[in-house]
Amino acid sequence: MNAPVNIPNPVGLLAELTHRCPLACPYCSNPLELDSRADELDTAAWIKVFTEAAEIGVLHAHLSGGEPAARRDLTEIVAHCASVGLYTNLITSGIGLTQERIKALADAGLDHVQLSIQDAEAKSADHIAGYEGAFARKQSVAAWVIAAGLPLTVNAVIHRANAERAGQMVKLAVALGARRVEIAHTQYYGWGIVNRAALMPTKAQADAAIAEVEALREVYAGVIVIDHVIPDYHARHPKACMGGWAKRTLNVTPTGKVLPCHAAETIPGLEFWNVRDHSLRDVWFASPAFNAFRGTEWMKEPCRSCPRKEIDFGGCRCQAFALTGDASAADPVCHLSPDHDKVAAIAAHANEEEAAAEIAYVYRGAKAPVPAE
Ligand code: SF4
Ligand code: FES
Repeated sequence: MNAPVNIPNPVGLLAELTHRCPLACPYCSNPLELDSRADELDTAAWIKVFTEAAEIGVLHAHLSGGEPAARRDLTEIVAHCASVGLYTNLITSGIGLTQERIKALADAGLDHVQLSIQDAEAKSADHIAGYEGAFARKQSVAAWVIAAGLPLTVNAVIHRANAERAGQMVKLAVALGARRVEIAHTQYYGWGIVNRAALMPTKAQADAAIAEVEALREVYAGVIVIDHVIPDYHARHPKACMGGWAKRTLNVTPTGKVLPCHAAETIPGLEFWNVRDHSLRDVWFASPAFNAFRGTEWMKEPCRSCPRKEIDFGGCRCQAFALTGDASAADPVCHLSPDHDKVAAIAAHANEEEAAAEIAYVYRGAKAPVPAE
């Protein structure tokens, strides 16, 4: 089919190559029910996905999971992405990567690595990851990435257990040789909702972490780029989630379902097409789930008549559904939402709880060993 004139081509594709992962971060945005290895797309199916992605204008392929290194065919997939002209970014915990494997990925055409860290202190980092020794291993992986000549971004998720060390995580990223660090306050999807009470920082903690990171921008100007995603539960306006629903990016799950965002399956009633049955072009332009919240026609008040509706697109559809039961409502993070008191109540609850309270995470269950390569 030809591209409808009013729908732009996608620029990015997030490929969840597998849900398998050796870590068990309590804020993991993967669904509570993880896809099994037996149901994953095989190499040929992924290769078809990336070919079709390049054909409809996708520029960036983000290889993610779970832990993408759990796939034995990762190097083959990277080589194919490079051959069809995709800028290829590996989003990894680092666990399961060896120096030889990173070198092979670089030789295959990998363009960039995003390495997650859980904290700036080993004991806390390993506790958050639910994996003894993860912190030390990540130091080695960062060094191997730099040695392979690949640009490195360090990703850190901020929450109650590590908010005091937000600045130290920026410093750690600099020490690891990263060119960019992404400091993102926790978003509450998937396991993040399950663990919200343990993860939500107090407002004072969040404010202090934000101020500390912002102050480091000047200190490290020209040394490292700091991308800072602030916590939306304490914001006045919501984020433009995904840059707008089905506007810029698409996600493919391990079993081939194509989603407008990683949490879209939490919204009941949406019909998601699968790459096993449809071309990516058909999914992007014609599938019911992608067209459900495109543009602004679906909006209700207060978004419908709001001057910001083309700026934040009413916020996040998944958060709107999770907090109000209505996916077409304004994201309740917005101070204009009639449901804003729900967000305020959750944030206030965090303020009442002592930040020092014992943190008991519910870890995601399907931990799987990463194959030794
Ligand atoms: Fe955004 Fe809707 Fe709030 Fe306006 S009313 S700022 S469009 S969420
Ligand atoms: Fe689904 Fe925001 S995560 S629209």
